[in-house]
Amino acid sequence: MEIIKTIKEMQQKIEQLKKDGQTIGFVPTMGYLHEGHLTLVEEARKKADIVIMSIFVNPLQFGPNEDFDRYPRDIERDERLANQAGVNFLFYPEVREMYKTEMSFHITVKGLADVLCGSNRPGHFDGVAAVLIKLFNIVQPHFAFFGMKDAQQVAVVTSLVEQFNFPIEIVPVPTVREEDGLAKSSRNVYLLEEERKDATVLFQSLQLAKGLIKAGEKNREKIQSEMKRYINQHSSASIDYVEIYTFPDLKPLQSLSGLVLIAGAIRFTNVRLIDNMTIDI
Ligand code: PAF
Repeated sequence: MEIIKTIKEMQQKIEQLKKDGQTIGFVPTMGYLHEGHLTLVEEARKKADIVIMSIFVNPLQFGPNEDFDRYPRDIERDERLANQAGVNFLFYPEVREMYKTEMSFHITVKGLADVLCGSNRPGHFDGVAAVLIKLFNIVQPHFAFFGMKDAQQVAVVTSLVEQFNFPIEIVPVPTVREEDGLAKSSRNVYLLEEERKDATVLFQSLQLAKGLIKAGEKNREKIQSEMKRYINQHSSASIDYVEIYTFPDLKPLQSLSGLVLIAGAIRFTNVRLIDNMTIDI
């Protein structure tokens, strides 16, 4: 695996790879890799000749009171894991390389970013869209791989490539979970020991929703309130949101039908966790 730190060098490599007729699979990450990321690499290896992973903790997608400074980082371990997983090129630029000058342009994600995490994290998806436009232009992949754990991000990216005509296929990859169902996340390390067991309530509340739907329940409010009741009864977490929308256009619906996204975010002492499930009704 080759590590590349500058945009120029990355672009030169890409030019050569494309000349050689290689297809490129891209796995953008913020590092602190876990099995979820490695599954993205596995999928990328199946679809493309060359796998490029980026590790870049993007300041634009963190709010002023969020965890940019304390976001977990361990580049040596990441290098080892990426290498073992079969990444060919690791693009690892510094902030001053990616943002050489202060950005004169601001991209605003409308509609899709007004719900779920977007309403709790104003500007977050604007920052995600901005960095992905840069990364897609630098890496020019044929395929880009994103975990469904952040389903809203998948919806935003899918619409970004459609509306800005990037010739990239977005490949959503199912969430990877711990044995007890907790969705893998770099932020799980922030859970206090006594909170770790309770952290599965979000997944369990999604299972509860699935059960209700299978039994014929279609009322959105009823399902949401059952999920909230479950979370409150079984954990010390506070609920940011539990919501149901159409997927991938994230429109509200009263009675469930078609492909729907059931998503939740809950807070523990030092961490906010998200999880979701899509279900075709
Ligand atoms: O999902 C992430 O890790 C980030 O939002 C991404 C896609 C790498 C953009 O910074």
